[in-house]
Amino acid sequence: MKTRIVEIEEEHIDQETIREAGEIIRSGGLVAFPTETVYGLGGDALNPASSRKIYEAKGRPSDNPLIVHIAKWEALSAIVKNIPEEAVRLAQVYWPGPLTMILEKSDLVPAETTGGLNTVAVRMPSHKTALAFIEAAGGYVAAPSANRSGRPSPTLARYVSQDLAGRIEMIIDGGDVELGLESTIVDLTAGTPVILRPGYITRVMLESTLGRVEEDVTILCDDSGQAPKAPGMKYRHYAPKGELTIISGPQQAVTDYINAQLDRYRTENKKTGVIASEATVSAYRADVCKNGGSRQDESALARRLYRILREFDDEDVEIIYAESFEGAGVGQAVMNRLLKAAGHRVTELK
Ligand code: TXA
Ligand code: MG
Repeated sequence: MKTRIVEIEEEHIDQETIREAGEIIRSGGLVAFPTETVYGLGGDALNPASSRKIYEAKGRPSDNPLIVHIAKWEALSAIVKNIPEEAVRLAQVYWPGPLTMILEKSDLVPAETTGGLNTVAVRMPSHKTALAFIEAAGGYVAAPSANRSGRPSPTLARYVSQDLAGRIEMIIDGGDVELGLESTIVDLTAGTPVILRPGYITRVMLESTLGRVEEDVTILCDDSGQAPKAPGMKYRHYAPKGELTIISGPQQAVTDYINAQLDRYRTENKKTGVIASEATVSAYRADVCKNGGSRQDESALARRLYRILREFDDEDVEIIYAESFEGAGVGQAVMNRLLKAAGHRVTELK
């Protein structure tokens, strides 16, 4: 299959191209499109054959459910059994935006789209091209991140093309995404709302709207022995090809330790990389040093993390060290993704 790549500017949406993209979805094909979080791989959420195609194109296990993207609030009632009060309040504050809600699904949503679950994940993205595309596609677009399974989520159309060219009908190139991390997922089907995947909308933000909100225990540690409630969170994700280790502790100890490791790997002719903050990045002796941005701005690394991981792959870096980037807000989501990328390999220094 030849994949058509079209450019659409969010501020000057070409309606004819959007109509063509929508037509591909309506006739059972797949189109990758930009959202404010990451690029999505879209198919008709109400067509079981489309969902099967999405799994196949991504190389993704079919027990891992898809998020259904809608463009207007009125679209929600047809795909869910009931709309809880919490969903109404969250939508008023955070939709359109980087928040996904888990709700009881209606019979309209095929089991293929939800990985056999009785619940459905729903999100209304804020990206204008995404909204126009969803409308043109019939109103319900199932879309996982537009990467091959196990690769970092794409923040540029170029990365979608690297992973999916030849496997899907069209890629809408909308340039760089705004946020760079996937949406926050909150489960509203189990009494107290539970965060299944952290993101830009933090626990504090959700609690200011809803009152008490819990977090799935598997979010930051993987030794809980429990299975994550978002099936996708159990898979090793976002993994770069090189071996990534996070080093935490007092800054000077971290820098000295990493440099000693880098020197050792250099004698073995291994290509090395580092992810460090803006303030410390120049202190490292790695072959490839990546600036994760200022520690004062937790969203800086969120925006560039996936791109950095892909660049390490493109440059064939074999050994990667990252400083730890814990934080109270978005920093928690960043650390969650970094830990997954590292397969939870962390060395803590005193
Ligand atoms: O920002 C985003 O959410 C992006 C853009 C494209 O919208 N999409 C995205 O989709 O990240 P994906 O498929 O890569 O991640 C969806 C996550 C998976 O971990 C999946 O297991 C979980 O959502 N999920 C989907 N439906 C679910 C359900 N009914 N119950 C629990 N978890 C669910
Ligand atoms: Mg994904």
